[in-house]
Amino acid sequence: MRIFVTGGCGFIGSNFVRFLLRERPDAEVTNFDALTYAGNLENLTTVEEHPKYRFVRGSICDRAALDAALKGGCDIVYNFAAESHVDRSLHEPQKFLDTNVTGTATLLEASLKAGAKRFVQVSTDEVYGSLGKDGVFTETTSIKPSSPYSAAKAAADLWVLSYHRSLGADVVITRSSNNYGPFQFPEKLIPLFISNALEDKPLPVYGDGMQVRDWLYVEDNCRAIEIVGKKGRSGEVYNIGGKSERENLVVTRALLREVGKPETLIKYVADRPGHDRRYALDISKIEKELGWSPNVGFEEGLKATVKWYLEHREWWTRVKSGAYREYYARQYGGRL
Ligand code: NAD
Ligand code: DAU
Repeated sequence: MRIFVTGGCGFIGSNFVRFLLRERPDAEVTNFDALTYAGNLENLTTVEEHPKYRFVRGSICDRAALDAALKGGCDIVYNFAAESHVDRSLHEPQKFLDTNVTGTATLLEASLKAGAKRFVQVSTDEVYGSLGKDGVFTETTSIKPSSPYSAAKAAADLWVLSYHRSLGADVVITRSSNNYGPFQFPEKLIPLFISNALEDKPLPVYGDGMQVRDWLYVEDNCRAIEIVGKKGRSGEVYNIGGKSERENLVVTRALLREVGKPETLIKYVADRPGHDRRYALDISKIEKELGWSPNVGFEEGLKATVKWYLEHREWWTRVKSGAYREYYARQYGGRL
């Protein structure tokens, strides 16, 4: 099985590549990644010499680079590549349009030309917009994205679905809630707050901190995405959630307790513009149709995540300082 993963040097992508190489002995994995600020080859040092793993540096916006990387053909494409941070999308929206929409469209064309039998678009619950205190998003909820990030992801979803409806392409879409776990770039809430706490730096809580996210351990998401790729019905969307809704302040206090630091580190700052109040997913479709459910509860997942950040201080210190970028110059310099 020839598997083409894009964005495999990022947080979820790198966990997914390791998952495939560990769990799927028949998988030959190509990881195609542009190595933006979020892409880090150090995330994959444990598999870089694996005989069934190949890394290719390139952008999903670059058709020629895609055609070259896909020359030998492939069976399935998993598209993780994206600009993924909401706050950045408020400052550099064009980048999000380019990568998340044009990049996805370019990748889809190249994949079909290369004979890929299936295209898995890794999307997000943020496409649905914001909920009040009650209610949940199902796969048929209308999309109403709030930020340039989520609007670009929503546009990509519609584009990919149109290839199914009008052109008969075999596509599936996953919409997951907030992931957390090892190798997450410390700009997102949980790794930023864990690493700041370990450095005795303030934890900047936006607004009143009462926004709600549904936390999903990354390993559970990797398993779900692979099942959707394997068994999901063509042209369908699958929500993937952790059944772990928590207010940001609850998450913040829990992680401070786990790290052993005082709540005085909490610093209330100006709210994120357009900040979605609450996300919550109905995941009965993937549970009933594909037999997937999350295995890792929030308390267990947070404990494991804090432990990982405690044991990988060098990793996140280098990421925060930007020094990780020297690694691929040193390690891959001549070959990239
Ligand atoms: P990330 O920011 O950690 O990683 C993104 C990866 O994509 C990086 O390795 C980067 O180098 C690569 N990339 C960016 N632009 C590229 C391009 N033009 N060509 C090739 N590679 C490129 O992101 P993440 O948090 O791992 O998210 C992965 C995917 O999952 C994204 O599509 C995101 O929208 C989606 N998602 C993320 C979450 C979450 O909580 N993190 C939840 C739901 C969905
Ligand atoms: O829901 C899925 C989405 O989850 C993914 O599609 C995105 O790629 C991913 O980045 C994430 O988006 P969020 O905006 O929910 O995640 P973030 O970690 O940036 O923020 C989580 C919550 O914490 C949100 O309510 C904003 C708040 N926050 C975040 C940061 C970085 C703070 O209060 N302070 C912060 O410093």
